[in-house]
Amino acid sequence: MIKEEIEILLNEACKKAGIEDAEMKVSFSNLPDICDYQCNGCFALAKKVGKNPLDLAQSIVENLPKNKIVDVMAVKPAFINIKLTDSAFEKIANECLTAELGGLQKHEITKKIIMDYGGANVAKALHIGHLRSPIIGESLKRLYRLFGDEVISDVHLGDWGLQMGLTELQLKLDGVLDYYFSGKGKEPVITLEMLNEAYPKASARKSVDKEFLKDAEDITLKIQKKEEPYYTIYKKIREVSVTKIAEHYAELGATFDLWYGESDAADYIDRAVQIFVDKGLARESEGALIVDVAKEGEQIPIPKKNPDEPQRYKNPMPPAIIKKHNGADLYATTDIATILMRNETCKNVDEIQYIVDARQSQHFTQVFRCCKLAEISPEKQTLTHIGYGTMNGNDGKPFKTRSGDTIKLEDIINMLVEKASEKLKSNGVEFDRKLALQIGVGAMKFGDLSNNVAKDYVFDLDKFLAFEGKTGPYIQYTVARINSILRKVDTKAGGIKICDKDEKNIILAILKLLTAYEICYQDRSLNALCLASYDLAAAFSTFYNNHHIVNESDKTKQASYIALLMLVKKELSQALNVLGIELPEKM
Ligand code: ARG
Repeated sequence: MIKEEIEILLNEACKKAGIEDAEMKVSFSNLPDICDYQCNGCFALAKKVGKNPLDLAQSIVENLPKNKIVDVMAVKPAFINIKLTDSAFEKIANECLTAELGGLQKHEITKKIIMDYGGANVAKALHIGHLRSPIIGESLKRLYRLFGDEVISDVHLGDWGLQMGLTELQLKLDGVLDYYFSGKGKEPVITLEMLNEAYPKASARKSVDKEFLKDAEDITLKIQKKEEPYYTIYKKIREVSVTKIAEHYAELGATFDLWYGESDAADYIDRAVQIFVDKGLARESEGALIVDVAKEGEQIPIPKKNPDEPQRYKNPMPPAIIKKHNGADLYATTDIATILMRNETCKNVDEIQYIVDARQSQHFTQVFRCCKLAEISPEKQTLTHIGYGTMNGNDGKPFKTRSGDTIKLEDIINMLVEKASEKLKSNGVEFDRKLALQIGVGAMKFGDLSNNVAKDYVFDLDKFLAFEGKTGPYIQYTVARINSILRKVDTKAGGIKICDKDEKNIILAILKLLTAYEICYQDRSLNALCLASYDLAAAFSTFYNNHHIVNESDKTKQASYIALLMLVKKELSQALNVLGIELPEKM
């Protein structure tokens, strides 16, 4: 990487100037009109060796070994400004064009990671609260894999909770399940429509009808004990629901290696609970089984409603409940059992990451502490909750329908297709659902991922769908435009020649993009990659406006342009692939 090469040159210069083991670092310049990189390290180094900072900067520059990659200047107060030479730009451009990952270096030390994202709940319609997890999770997975990590993704469906009992009870009362209880008549076909009606109805009733809630809890327990016919009915409900969930995830471009749910850990629950009992970590409280996880003197941050609010704390962390008073399993129980299962079925897992709403942070703290206390998760394994912020409406409150209901994922997808189609229509493109979905989903993902994962953001589809500005469609459009030029010209790509500022800016934008991957990896957030992709698309756009690519009569020049176009396409395609954004051939 060029940055490291420059740093080596500077350190060699330090040595020549009589300073051993200097560790000079360079960064992209804050003044791109003046230089490409800058080094701010002379102040600290001068202090260390007792010299005047500007003198030191000058002597480093004078002692710089002869090289063809940089022109360097010491400037007041004591900075070193570094410009890449044209030949350095050319070398980088041509290397990136042929390198497998466009210049990105895989990590030397890689990890084995299980990623838990998706998390849709069976029997309930998917809603907006479940949108960020597959978007962010899928993208992080692709990023990790690009760097060489071994990643196993698990959708971890919510399929072992009270919603199962509620739905079955409602269907039973509606007379749908008579066959299973009386053995008479024909086996019913349980449909998605039935489920979409049953769950909300039951959920509303449980809040006002204690008897009903108790019955639903009893049925939930029977399902968890695999009692018939409850368990058979449960499996049918699960199947119908999962088919729909899979369709939604496919439309969002989220893919999973494992389609497990909470229920897959059911066989590990007894053993997991026993570990706590045997190690003396669990105690009974009001009939329930609980594990104390508070740490002495600690403060628990209360999730903020908005980022500007001062941080407040509560104390201490409440105990984790691992068995309910009636013996039923809870959310924490299945999560603990799942960690046990993951470690038994998959060896040497360095990290388990959960991409789940930030508002569940207490739950994960409890679960992680339980697993560490009971040594269900080995000491050297990292358990991470990557908590994401809320999608808000323009009013700054969680995004809802006009009537105040939570928005179903199905409706969001339809809305995306509709709005993208309108846009395309105004550009004279005929209705094409696949294309509209690519653009709509791409717009939404870019709008989402351009924000820091942990922050809340405003879900503004009109803004996300603009064809100009920092949006997914703008970048998709940039690549479509490159495709269109490449179709028009029959000149073959040649070596990239760097002759002007526009071309240099493209290469610099690529260098920044390559750095952005690493930033995203460290931050576990994709915003830097979104921004760098936009900057590259914008740099390309300037180049495109100032150059006549198709009509260029100098064939060597044109061949260089074509290669440059192919490079930009390659880099943008890789970045958008990490972001999970598809690239339409034409737009
Ligand atoms: N089903 C959960 C929910 O809707 C999300 C699951 C997240 N993953 C986990 N292992 N707890 O809130």
